[in-house]
Amino acid sequence: MSGKESGKDRLIIFDTTMRDGEQSPGASMTKEEKLRIAKALERMRVDVIEAGFPIASPGDFEAVQAVAEAVKDSTVCGLARALDKDIDRAGEALKKANSGRIHTFIATSPIHMQHKLRMTPEQVLEQAVRSVKRARQYTDDVEFSAEDAVRSEFDFLCRVFEAAIAAGARTINVPDTVGYSLPGLWGERIRKLIESVPNADQVVWSTHCHNDLGMAVANSLSAVLSGVRQVECTINGLGERAGNASLEEIVMAVKVRRDIFPCDSRIDTTQIVPTSKLVSQITGYPVQPNKAVVGANAFAHESGIHQDGVLKSRETYEIMRAQDVGWSTNKLTLGKLSGRNAFRARLQELGIQLDGEEALNAAFARFKELADKKSEIFDEDLQALVSEAHQGENEYIKLAYLRVASETGTQPEAQVTLSVDGEECRAQATGGGPVDAAFKAIESVMQSGAQLQLYSVNNITSGTDSQGEVTVRLEKGGRIVNGQGADTDIVIASAKAYINGLNKILDASQRQHPQRAAL
Ligand code: KIV
Ligand code: ZN
Repeated sequence: MSGKESGKDRLIIFDTTMRDGEQSPGASMTKEEKLRIAKALERMRVDVIEAGFPIASPGDFEAVQAVAEAVKDSTVCGLARALDKDIDRAGEALKKANSGRIHTFIATSPIHMQHKLRMTPEQVLEQAVRSVKRARQYTDDVEFSAEDAVRSEFDFLCRVFEAAIAAGARTINVPDTVGYSLPGLWGERIRKLIESVPNADQVVWSTHCHNDLGMAVANSLSAVLSGVRQVECTINGLGERAGNASLEEIVMAVKVRRDIFPCDSRIDTTQIVPTSKLVSQITGYPVQPNKAVVGANAFAHESGIHQDGVLKSRETYEIMRAQDVGWSTNKLTLGKLSGRNAFRARLQELGIQLDGEEALNAAFARFKELADKKSEIFDEDLQALVSEAHQGENEYIKLAYLRVASETGTQPEAQVTLSVDGEECRAQATGGGPVDAAFKAIESVMQSGAQLQLYSVNNITSGTDSQGEVTVRLEKGGRIVNGQGADTDIVIASAKAYINGLNKILDASQRQHPQRAAL
């Protein structure tokens, strides 16, 4: 995979949206959601898809297994601590992959070794070697990461990397786990590592940067200039704490500044915006409007001078074209008169798999309902509709009816009927606004005690008949979940999102966090 294309080295794009991205509060994904994201990443020609952390939970194991089976053109990777049980679980999950990778890691900084692992450096080195050898029993494609490499002692880091390569690692990843470095320093550290590790030429060097100081992308690009040929990144920069380096920024920086970078990725950049929208919709993390490449304003020109310049010659103020990153791939898909076969075919093209005819019929019925309210149905509408169809399947709480009255000079009032585990429950409440009234009515039935941490509304497509997509973030006893709902009526979308969040928060299954888990 590190072969040259058009005279340049290949920059391997390793996407960790479904593993590190999933560590963002409330962003956990179901197997079905991971499959949809994996298909979108494959369409985008991502080289390596890190699909999860198989030991974390049975759900994560099944999701990695399903992605490994479904994806044919990208390598599918599973994360494993440097522990036999983790590696065996990852190996098992990846069994059916066309091309599978085990990514094993252990922390190498004094602070992590002493306080988290309670291991000596020699024990860490020994365990790194053992884990790489064990992973090699499952696949030749083994990646080794030294967690918190940024704060690790340089000579020790070199020894660990040398030993991991000798044990059979094919990729050596150098993470700035805590987002502490600066571009000049990071580039320098990487350059020295590649120069100092005696068997450095036998592997692909990689970096994985966090964004705590807002420098994940800059640090990753600096590492590329120093010789790494794999960057670990996520769609929309999702990830632990302040997130990871954002895939779209890395890919476009290398492409736009091809005069500077000695490598290029094989990413189909026209898939960037649709994939960004999909990830935002599934995780409930909206994209800020001024976000580079994928923000709604990334190609909007507000000032008269700029508008005038762009009209005369686009290059005056634009360094890349909106359509090259997929802004115009917002395809008009289907309408009121489209039939079931056209609907099924478009879902297939989008990589959406519904379980059986019943699920397809239910989704098609929802599509017809939506088409009655909205004349043009876009891919984004279909994605939202399918998310909802999946949510509806096993939900404990369902919205049966909602009526909201709001007029100037009176307090808005909501009446709601919920189906809770099959039993009908009604309530009414007043509130500061219609959404507040609806949430209070739902809460008066459920008495969940969950705290609302975030409420946001975005239009899925453009126009006043667009569906509103609502995200709520709920917290209870330290557990955080995101709930989503979409509808052409934003009060109904809000109620759906709130109920979706409550369903998740009442679901007992918890995921284990790879970096906080004790070794
Ligand atoms: O940030 C980090 O160090 C990680 C490793 C598991 C690569 O996510
Ligand atoms: Zn990370």
